[in-house]
Amino acid sequence: MIIHGGAPIEGRIGISGAKNAALPLMIASLLTDQPVRLHNVPRLDDVAMLKRILGNHGSDITVSGRKRADRSDLVGESLTLTCAEVTNHEAPYDFVRKMRASFWVLGPLLAREGQARVSLPGGCVIGTRPIDFFVDALCKMGATCQLENGYVNASVSGRLQGARLRFPRVSVGATHTLLMAACLARGETIIENAAREPEIINLAEALRAMGAKIEGEETGTISVQGVERLDGAEVTVIPDRLEAGTFMIAAAACRGRLEVLGSVPDHLEALISVLRQVGAKVAFDPARPDKPLLVEGSEKIEPIDIETLPYPGFATDLQAQIMALLCLANGVSRLRETIFENRFMHVSELVRLGARIEIDGMLAIVNGPAEFRGAEVMASDIRASAGLVIAALAASGTTTIHRLYHLDRGFERIDAKLAACGARVERERR
Ligand code: UD1
Repeated sequence: MIIHGGAPIEGRIGISGAKNAALPLMIASLLTDQPVRLHNVPRLDDVAMLKRILGNHGSDITVSGRKRADRSDLVGESLTLTCAEVTNHEAPYDFVRKMRASFWVLGPLLAREGQARVSLPGGCVIGTRPIDFFVDALCKMGATCQLENGYVNASVSGRLQGARLRFPRVSVGATHTLLMAACLARGETIIENAAREPEIINLAEALRAMGAKIEGEETGTISVQGVERLDGAEVTVIPDRLEAGTFMIAAAACRGRLEVLGSVPDHLEALISVLRQVGAKVAFDPARPDKPLLVEGSEKIEPIDIETLPYPGFATDLQAQIMALLCLANGVSRLRETIFENRFMHVSELVRLGARIEIDGMLAIVNGPAEFRGAEVMASDIRASAGLVIAALAASGTTTIHRLYHLDRGFERIDAKLAACGARVERERR
């Protein structure tokens, strides 16, 4: 992606369905032999990859909802996923290594079929991301899990058994997976220290629409009464708060003005508070969710100290983007990453653009104000790429971002959306 920085960013930008909600919702369709219909599914490489993975397990997937010429950025796909019969219990390495979330099929496959063989996801650039919480919890529910040749072989005779589970720390993936598994277990499962991300709520509501008995998902302690079987359902994917957050930060960094259409301000509370503290104007009408949220950057950006936390705290998935903004602040900001141990891969690339950042373990000390100047940089993960896009938009001169496939995994047509608001963005065609 080639970005000629410094153009004024102004206009209205539409938000797509959330990747991190669409993926678990698609996986949840494995729990039933009936059709699950999902609306507002974003057109992303991760979604395409998961379609292949679910197809490998026996799902038939039909796609509808053609792009509309006028507001195509707001209209996602509708998917109908039907897994009448699980034809394959194995999720192979070649799939799982490309997208960690596909490991989550472990929960529904085991709950429905009593067996699953799922490749370990392996390391990834943002940390080791182990699977011990998943395995320990499923064993508590009566499963036998063996790690063999890079795979988790899990089985249970009959059904999983309800249990009291407590994750040592909040894990989004483990919460999704165990929540899905508990729906078809015998008896009651309590999940303590559960994640409370909006994507978890979206999943819980979908599972309830399928006939599951779930309570408490907003509280961090989820109770599930297992049922014999689940039905199909029709569910809408929530708007992507991380995409919305990325555009909001871009507006602040470019001293621009964006109307963000289709986001849920409630999901963005921590970010809105941060943006206001650094001096940006954020305005929305809580009573009118159909109206856009307005972000206006200010000439002077104040420094701030931030720590990433599970929801409702400041999202680790916005850490790279906010760091790009804080590089431009008038003074020193401290950014502490508490979720992943190696999530500062974007720092060396921001430095190539002119940032002055020191790393001390999980703490980044950002010395502002920097003047970004265009350079060649390399994306290392989905959200790091978004941070580089923001820095490039705010830079003088031309920035080329390599390894764009990371961005395409998680952001729908980001170049076209930004270009429609004045950014000068090109994509090199090969
Ligand atoms: C999900 C999101 C990702 C986001 C992350 C944290 C999706 C598709 N991905 O990833 O975008 O950055 O939540 O909000 O929704 N952990 C263990 N053992 C385990 C499981 C997790 O130690 O068995 C640790 C992880 O290493 C990490 C922490 O728990 O330090 C939180 O990770 P987790 O919430 O599980 O992240 P993901 O679900 O992989």
